[in-house]
Amino acid sequence: MSNLMEDVMSLCKRRAFVYPGSEIYGGLANTWDYGPYGSQLKKNILDFWWKTFVQDRDDMMGLDSAILMNPRVWEASGHVSNFSDPLMDCKSCQERVRGDKILEEHLKTTIAGLSNAEIYNKMMEEKIPCPKCKKVNWTEPRSFNLMFKTYQGVIEDTAAQVYLRPETAQGIFVNFKNILDSTRSRLPFGVGQYGKSFRNEITPGNFIFRTREFEQMEIEYFVRPEEAEKYFDQWVEDYKAFFKALNIPEDKLRLRYHERDELSHYSSKTVDFEYEFPFGWGELMGIAHRGSFDLDQHMKFSGEKLQYRDPQSNEVLTPHVVEPALGLTRAFLIVLLSAYEEQTLENGETRTVLHFAPQIAPVQVAVFPLQKQQSEPATQLYRDLKKHFRAEYDESGAIGKRYRRQDEIGTPFCVTYDFDSEADGCVTVRERDSMKQERMKIEELRAYLNERL
Ligand code: GAP
Repeated sequence: MSNLMEDVMSLCKRRAFVYPGSEIYGGLANTWDYGPYGSQLKKNILDFWWKTFVQDRDDMMGLDSAILMNPRVWEASGHVSNFSDPLMDCKSCQERVRGDKILEEHLKTTIAGLSNAEIYNKMMEEKIPCPKCKKVNWTEPRSFNLMFKTYQGVIEDTAAQVYLRPETAQGIFVNFKNILDSTRSRLPFGVGQYGKSFRNEITPGNFIFRTREFEQMEIEYFVRPEEAEKYFDQWVEDYKAFFKALNIPEDKLRLRYHERDELSHYSSKTVDFEYEFPFGWGELMGIAHRGSFDLDQHMKFSGEKLQYRDPQSNEVLTPHVVEPALGLTRAFLIVLLSAYEEQTLENGETRTVLHFAPQIAPVQVAVFPLQKQQSEPATQLYRDLKKHFRAEYDESGAIGKRYRRQDEIGTPFCVTYDFDSEADGCVTVRERDSMKQERMKIEELRAYLNERL
């Protein structure tokens, strides 16, 4: 694993961002728990997404649908028949791989639309060895459906079988009629939903990049068919701005439009935002033009009419859908990777700092008394600030150490209450990235922070 990924993972464990799941029982492979700072950071990214794309817009609204849904939903959506990966085993060492991924890594290009037999033939033609034992001794690929199955109720038979949702999107489509009937929505309008999704991935890994349980933030944006292209391009621009606001460097992102034969079963146009991870370029999110596929399928399978009547012209139409789909846990990973820096200071010390955008930092302001004698007024200041900001109080160790502690968790501002504060009513504010310090009146502090957070 690259140094950056190792450094970030180590910081995550040490500083309460992410812990290995079920650790005291020896863990459960590829599961992760978000600690006190990590859960706050994840929530802040989610809140920022919700505010940007749901709360601040007139054409958007939210939804929170159930994880367990009628299994017919997944028949209609195509997940029962299409949502599978080609699973291959090495007959020599039993290593299990995704045939398409191994082939892509070997050919150094994306491959799509190949049947299992074609994948097998190419693997044999190219003599692609097992990554573990280096032998070329593969089973033929089997299609492995990625949906987790479970049972609802006490009887474990097929009639009671349900799936853990593999995406949040379908909850929006099956509520399309409810939303139209209960709100006064006019095209174009969109519905945003976030929440857990589950996929029984064959090759999870790269820390939280690909896990079997993860969180998504998805939008289904319903438009008149002839306007889909226009809004597709608009959503690409909106997400570029979103990542910029999260301090993701532009040169770490690129757009990759899918080739025709690579498109998912539902999509007529898809673009991926890719991020340059320490292990190479990888998918961050996708924006798909889903046409009327989902509404048509659910109309067919449910018998319900999922159409829109124009209130002015009375025209009835099935809207087309543009879907920006982003993983919250994947966004969390790129926020951390982009923010992480180790700096060598003039005195030779190393400073580890997370350059989070201030609005998503888990702690926004830390308050220190210079010495224990100032504990009382400093605590009072901390209590006042805590009503308005995510604040933390720290009085242990040298002041430099306290700065380092806050830098490591990405706190944008530290405020020190010192010997003179009582007399002059001023404190020292130190900014994380520039390390510049300025002295200001306590009564101006709130406005100063409000402007910057
Ligand atoms: N509704 C469309 C959909 O779910 P997707 O490309 O399969 O599309 C959307 O997933 C996003 O969800 C991905 O771009 C990625 O950010 C995230 N995601 C998908 N599978 C994931 C996994 N196993 N672990 C973490 N994030 C995942």
